[in-house]
Amino acid sequence: MELLDLATRIESRNIVPDMRGKLAALLFFEPSTRTHFSFDTAVKRLGGNSLTMTGTGNTSAQKGETLSDTLKTISQYADLIVMRHVVEGAARFASEILDIPVVNAGDGTNQHPSQAMLDLYSIQKTQGKLENLTVGMVGDLRLGRTVHSLAQALSDFNPKFYFASPGHLQMPRYIKDELRQKGIIFEEIQDIKPVMPELDIMYVTRIQKERFAVLEDYLKLKDSYIITKKFLKNVKSNFKMMHPLPRVNEITKEVDDTPYAYYFQQAKNGVFMRQAIITKLLKLNW
Ligand code: CP
Repeated sequence: MELLDLATRIESRNIVPDMRGKLAALLFFEPSTRTHFSFDTAVKRLGGNSLTMTGTGNTSAQKGETLSDTLKTISQYADLIVMRHVVEGAARFASEILDIPVVNAGDGTNQHPSQAMLDLYSIQKTQGKLENLTVGMVGDLRLGRTVHSLAQALSDFNPKFYFASPGHLQMPRYIKDELRQKGIIFEEIQDIKPVMPELDIMYVTRIQKERFAVLEDYLKLKDSYIITKKFLKNVKSNFKMMHPLPRVNEITKEVDDTPYAYYFQQAKNGVFMRQAIITKLLKLNW
């Protein structure tokens, strides 16, 4: 809630945190557009500086340097590390061996917490609240990390969830167990269309091609959910469609021009939330 408040105040320019003289290392071992550039934008809007690594191609990892040594070295230069890595738990590992703050910018199929925070910020902006919303999550709920973090984050606000996923791509058991323990109602469904009139938010994710071991398995599932304008006939007036992006074909372009599409504003909100995260972690003055 503190981060949501900070993001709101930063967006409205009620506060202008000062990151001058500080440096964030943006370490993207996996590809990224939004998370990388929104963190970089956030750093620069705060007046700070950034070091960027995209892939390990031009680093001494190519000479056999361990992840641990790479991180310990970079932490000598930076005040904060933002890290995306293919291995689940990599950011937690970094946080355990380093003395500076580490932000998990996505670890494999596990979690994407700064995305969840910007998603909460987007939901609060569009719905005027976080409590008691009906949220449909659609697509690859097993390998897509954003929905894991968002389901956990929203579970503090008494949501009702519909989970629509194809084949074996259901929401992981540990997330469902957590929801049951908290008394959160969720239903696993195949077809999202019949519940569209109930939804406040539909959160669509792509099928995570890069995480399939066998291409044929991906090809069988890749067109399972394609949301078109036809899906939007009987939705509520406050209904919004969100997507962490990148999208492949799961939302058709015609949807972009409807008042329900919110995914590009959602990406913009990422800058304000990431400014808030950096402000809190580095205890910036404003
Ligand atoms: N939403 C998100 O994580 O997008 P990128 O993979 O482009 O960073």
